[in-house]
Amino acid sequence: MSVEREFAIAIVGGTGNLGTALALRLAAPGVKVIIGSRDPEKARAVVDSLRPRIAHGMIEGYANQEAVQQAEFVVIAVPYEGHATMVAALKGQLGGKTVIDAVVPLNKGRPFVPAAGSALREAQEILGGEAPVIGALHNISAVDLQDPASSLGDVLVCGDDAGAKKNVMELIRRIGARTFDAGPASHAYVIEGLTGVLIYLNRKHKSKHASVRITGIGE
Ligand SMILES: NC(=O)c1ccc[n+]([C@@H]2O[C@H](COP(=O)([O-])OP(=O)(O)OC[C@H]3O[C@@H](n4cnc5c(N)ncnc54)[C@H](OP(=O)(O)O)[C@@H]3O)[C@@H](O)[C@H]2O)c1
Repeated sequence: MSVEREFAIAIVGGTGNLGTALALRLAAPGVKVIIGSRDPEKARAVVDSLRPRIAHGMIEGYANQEAVQQAEFVVIAVPYEGHATMVAALKGQLGGKTVIDAVVPLNKGRPFVPAAGSALREAQEILGGEAPVIGALHNISAVDLQDPASSLGDVLVCGDDAGAKKNVMELIRRIGARTFDAGPASHAYVIEGLTGVLIYLNRKHKSKHASVRITGIGE
């Protein structure tokens, strides 16, 4: 699937910090965004609250499962506690789609490596090849993302499907971030864990903007 033509992106857990911020950034350049929630009423209420901040973009809200059915790209943006259960609940509905996993395994703000090796690996194991799973957006601050005037850190993108990874990188450039192909899915635990370091830096420096910047190479 190329991102040349019209497409929609569903955000599972789209009512949260990352989901709402990402929705604002994606809708601004005209990407169709579908906010997913465990509660469709909550999804619709969040969409109503976001609409005044989106000039021309298309945004809708549904229950997670219904949101996913209408999209070519599916972002998983739930806390790690709900990750495996949510991915399992979506299994069977993801054929032909690309999953973007932004989930960071955290315990009280501290990173840990889950039994599968990473959240991304966990999703791959659960889905068993039904859809490519690409890791991205872990190191972006939702606070910066929700403010179109804020510049964003770089986005490290990893995964085993080269075509899907390329499409995800193209998609993420639309939110105004530089993207880097950061390697295969086996690198995901490093990128996910880096967010724990950024959380530590934010706490230490009383900031909400710590992010990653790659230097020394072209994009
Ligand atoms: N916040 C950031 O800056 C940021 C940046 C990069 C990556 N991330 C990662 O992105 C994910 C989402 O972060 P967030 O800050 O947006 O989280 P959040 O606001 O705490 O939660 C996001 C949404 O997930 C749903 N949810 C909560 N608990 C759930 C559960 N047990 N099972 C299924 N759904 C559940 C809720 O939506 P409903 O109640 O509507 O279903 C909630 O609004 C996390 O894994 C985080 O590590 C966050």
